[in-house]
Amino acid sequence: MKFFIDTADLAEIRDLAATGLVDGVTTNPSLVAKTGRQFLDVVREICAVVPGPVSAEVTATDTATMLAEGRKLAKIAKNVTVKVPLTPDGLKACKVLSSEGTMVNVTLCFSSAQAILAAKAGASFISPFVGRLDDIGQSGMELIREIVEIYRNYPHFKTEVLVASIRSPMHVTEAARMGAHVGTLPPAVLRQMFAHPLTEKGLATFLADWKKTGQSILADGEKVAAE
Ligand code: G3P
Repeated sequence: MKFFIDTADLAEIRDLAATGLVDGVTTNPSLVAKTGRQFLDVVREICAVVPGPVSAEVTATDTATMLAEGRKLAKIAKNVTVKVPLTPDGLKACKVLSSEGTMVNVTLCFSSAQAILAAKAGASFISPFVGRLDDIGQSGMELIREIVEIYRNYPHFKTEVLVASIRSPMHVTEAARMGAHVGTLPPAVLRQMFAHPLTEKGLATFLADWKKTGQSILADGEKVAAE
């Protein structure tokens, strides 16, 4: 399963990219607005930090303007993935941009019917929003199960299921059990995934016992190379 991080915050992206676990980044207009920075600059900088797909969303609602915006975004860097909304105009733009060789992420997907349309439009990624479905009392994870099952029935669909609107590590593990290709994780969720109280407790015990031995693996003055 690939991990993207769902943020436009460069400091967070740099910090988490250093773990070696980040395969890409997703942004949206709300995340960009939070930074207070120029969108095109932010996208350029993220693309330089993370070599994998970086989703940058168009803000027009008609196909012609979406295409102009998408082509401009795609020129920023090879790893830009143009994000379009799941609307008739968005899917028309998806078809054209995909045929030009640009990766497209179709966002705001809330049904498996919509996911079928995105695959037929040649999307590289479909973004079903699990947390927002849970918020209205529907099962976000059930939608992931349906989309993964449908796409598996049609091996010529090359669209990857990118689980979005993730709220907890459980969303990630459930999506992985279902075989979703990608999860886009808020930075806090990726950090939560490292944590387990028994890991912390066990490490404290190991270190305390080790200290009692009076030993050290590295001799005094033995060099520690930079990471
Ligand atoms: O980027 C799309 C998605 O991940 C948004 O998540 O938390 O705003 O529902 P959220």
